[in-house]
Amino acid sequence: MGEAAGQLILDVRNLRVEFPGRHGTVTALSDVSLDIRAGEILGVVGESGAGKSMAGLSILGLLERPGHISGGEIWLEQRRIDTLDDYEMEKIRGRKIGAIFQDPLTSLNPLFTVGAQLTETIRQHLDMNKAQAKARAIELLGEVGIPSPSERVDHYPHQFSGGMRQRVVIALALAASPRLIIADEPTTALDVSIQAQIISLLRRLCKEKQTAIMLVTHDMGVIAEAADRVAVMYAGRLIEVGPVEQVLHASKHPYTRGLMASIPALAARVERLNQIDGSMPRLDAIPDGCAFNTRCKSAGPRCTREQPVLIPAGAGASACWLNAGGVA
Ligand SMILES: Nc1ncnc2c1ncn2[C@@H]1O[C@H](COP(=O)(O)OP(=O)(O)OP(=O)(O)O)[C@@H](O)[C@H]1O
Ligand code: SF4
Ligand SMILES: [Mg+2]
Repeated sequence: MGEAAGQLILDVRNLRVEFPGRHGTVTALSDVSLDIRAGEILGVVGESGAGKSMAGLSILGLLERPGHISGGEIWLEQRRIDTLDDYEMEKIRGRKIGAIFQDPLTSLNPLFTVGAQLTETIRQHLDMNKAQAKARAIELLGEVGIPSPSERVDHYPHQFSGGMRQRVVIALALAASPRLIIADEPTTALDVSIQAQIISLLRRLCKEKQTAIMLVTHDMGVIAEAADRVAVMYAGRLIEVGPVEQVLHASKHPYTRGLMASIPALAARVERLNQIDGSMPRLDAIPDGCAFNTRCKSAGPRCTREQPVLIPAGAGASACWLNAGGVA
């Protein structure tokens, strides 16, 4: 892992999230364990509905009720945070964990200047007077690459382009120098030409500030550019994790290999034999054993009997019986 071997910032252990409903309880996340170190970007990938956002929201303490954490632990810098109450969690959000979502407008209030929003966030978390906070706001806008920050600080969100607005959101997320940033599809709503700029900005800030970043995306190009390690989710479970080169080019899980083969840019390098038929099961219809067994061309009898757990594979880990004694 080389440059990424910093201090452990986020440690999620065996996380389980349930949604009680009229037709019984669905398990949205099952036994999800992941960690991120200082200065490291963990990419989280998987098909729509795999549980990527749910994992991010759980860490932020923003699960929509009646959804709740029903098992496991979340540790942030040696402090357990999944047991904190709403008031304490609100203090952690912003101060210790920053969030960046797909649409910058959900994070910005159209009625206030970006400077007013930045200074409010800064003063909420840091001991600064108005003038100090404004100076810090201007500095932050400069750091995220907004030209003429001392003028732009007095502008309203609608006066910025989409890409510049997402930079403002990144400045907001950084305002209190959090140790962890959860970025959920931060470039999906932006023009392709802008996406690369935002990704390289996130990567630069991650390395400079030694922030841990959880980068949720369905875009393998973004993963290839930005991630140090990659976690692959399927039906609410983590099925593979490893260094980005291994997961992209030498994956230890049949699902990941199929996922990579379905991506045009990567498929040129991976033979297109591996397309995955069918679709991911609904959460209330996950088969017994391996959740992927209905679509897996390598499945054997054991795959419907026993659920594979993450087992070390190469420089990472994979939940597949092929790596642990076979599928017979
Ligand atoms: N309020 C809810 N009640 C019950 N199930 C929910 C609720 N919100 C989300 N889910 C389910 O949880 C699962 C995970 O959703 P999540 O939003 O985390 O997926 P995702 O991987 O982020 O997908 P996408 O790529 O589309 O953003 C989905 O199957 C979804 O239907
Ligand atoms: S455990 Fe079996 S069904 Fe699951 S991915 Fe491995 S081979 Fe396929
Ligand atoms: Mg999502």
